[in-house]
Amino acid sequence: KILILDFGSQYTQLIGRRVRELNVYCEIYPYNHYPTIDESVKGVILSGSPFSVRDADAPKPDLSLIKGKMPLLGVCYGAQYLSHYFGGEVAPSNSREYGRANLGFVDNSNPLFKNIGQHSQVWMSHGDTIVRIPENYKVIASTADVEYAAYQIEGEETFAIQFHPEVYHTTEGTQLLQNFVVDICGCKQDWTPASFIETTVKELKAKLGNDRVVLGLSGGVDSSVAAVLLHRAISKNLTCIFVDNGLLRKDEFQQVLDSYQHMGLNVIGVDASQKFWDDLAGVREPEAKRKIIGRDFIEVFDVEAHKIKDVKWLAQGTIYPDVIESVSVNGPSATIKSHHNVGGLPEKMNLKVVEPLKLLFKDEVRRVGKALDMKPELLGRHPFPGPGLGIRILSDVTPEKVRVLQEADAIFINGLKEWGLYDKVWQAGVMLLPVQSVGVMGDERTYENVVALRAVASTDGMTADWVHLPYEFLAKMSNEIINKVRGINRVVYDISSKPPATIEWE
Ligand code: XMP
Repeated sequence: KILILDFGSQYTQLIGRRVRELNVYCEIYPYNHYPTIDESVKGVILSGSPFSVRDADAPKPDLSLIKGKMPLLGVCYGAQYLSHYFGGEVAPSNSREYGRANLGFVDNSNPLFKNIGQHSQVWMSHGDTIVRIPENYKVIASTADVEYAAYQIEGEETFAIQFHPEVYHTTEGTQLLQNFVVDICGCKQDWTPASFIETTVKELKAKLGNDRVVLGLSGGVDSSVAAVLLHRAISKNLTCIFVDNGLLRKDEFQQVLDSYQHMGLNVIGVDASQKFWDDLAGVREPEAKRKIIGRDFIEVFDVEAHKIKDVKWLAQGTIYPDVIESVSVNGPSATIKSHHNVGGLPEKMNLKVVEPLKLLFKDEVRRVGKALDMKPELLGRHPFPGPGLGIRILSDVTPEKVRVLQEADAIFINGLKEWGLYDKVWQAGVMLLPVQSVGVMGDERTYENVVALRAVASTDGMTADWVHLPYEFLAKMSNEIINKVRGINRVVYDISSKPPATIEWE
């Protein structure tokens, strides 16, 4: 496998994804907290970072068991680090080197640059520049502005590149990563969904033996794939619990329950809507609502789980981005929204935790689901937040508002499906605003609510852009919602990107 050491760059996840797209297995760890290097590690990649190597608190990894002992590739910060601390020099760049550039010199005899074009486009994104490299370092690629765009340390399989091979704008980035992980590190390209399923099922069997396991299903892709995978491994010893928190989409509880039962899973459906509505009554503040929904979920789940005898494990559909969002490299980053579904439960329940998808990205989870013969409709579902409609009803939640929003949301989501737009959108939903506006219907003046439609394109939810849905479609949706949903007389479309906005409104 390949180990990727994370210095906090927003692109680190992408490096992992690219490596796995080459069907090579990799794991990402914080630079100061990685497992013992054993013979399964064939090579290491150092990521970029928001830090400058000249910062007093810049990340300084211990590479003593890695550098010179196995193939190593430094990317951006990684490249500057390998220069600055080994006798070279990094200085602030006069011009911020940012954006597209073309290679001007490429050493094609170097294994890292095999089959890479002489003028290949690369993506730069750094404020510092390497002004001097140590003596035993050899330049292997340059651009017009950046002389040390890539170098190798002589006598070592240590390489470094100033640009980002993982981003799409580096047109031959995948070739370069393939040169590194396959040719230089010698990794086999045998990491496929089928091989993942085979090894994971084997591991789960060994780990869980005859123990009983409980899993909370959400209706989403991750927990569903985790459930099917565990079911393959331990079959009847897995019990799934699906809680209706009264904040799900229209008819979702029954539909999802049916589809799980159809897959042969042992699922208990619990309708706890009233409890959630009661506890949310009058609460307006988004974080307070999240805490209540999170706490109620844990309570309900706990009661149900205790009805099952001898449960030893709690299974979760945690995926890789959940893990990194909750550990950050240098202290906790600002909590913008507390996504409740990752924490809390295991501590309260005193169960051991099993997370079979912990190292996968969303698209990989989908590939695994497909290889498990799961239905495309289930695998292609848009992400939906744990607190559900609770954070799409701005201000306080009432059962009536839930009903109104469910109706509007169903029209929008079904519309997207009918118009063939659903799969082109990463996530979509409707927000019920705490705003009333004047309208006219027939001869009557109305004074009713506004809803905002939201549809975004994204790859991981970290950044997102609004989707340019066709006007005809928006017109149709607006008409249908206003005509069919009592209580709504105005529809607006949200055209904000993230950042600076977020996907949800709360
Ligand atoms: P934001 O609004 O932060 O959303 O741009 C990014 C992604 O996270 C989802 N989201 C949540 N998911 N619990 C969740 O499980 C939450 O409290 C929560 N808040 C936002 C959101 O739907 C989007 O996919």
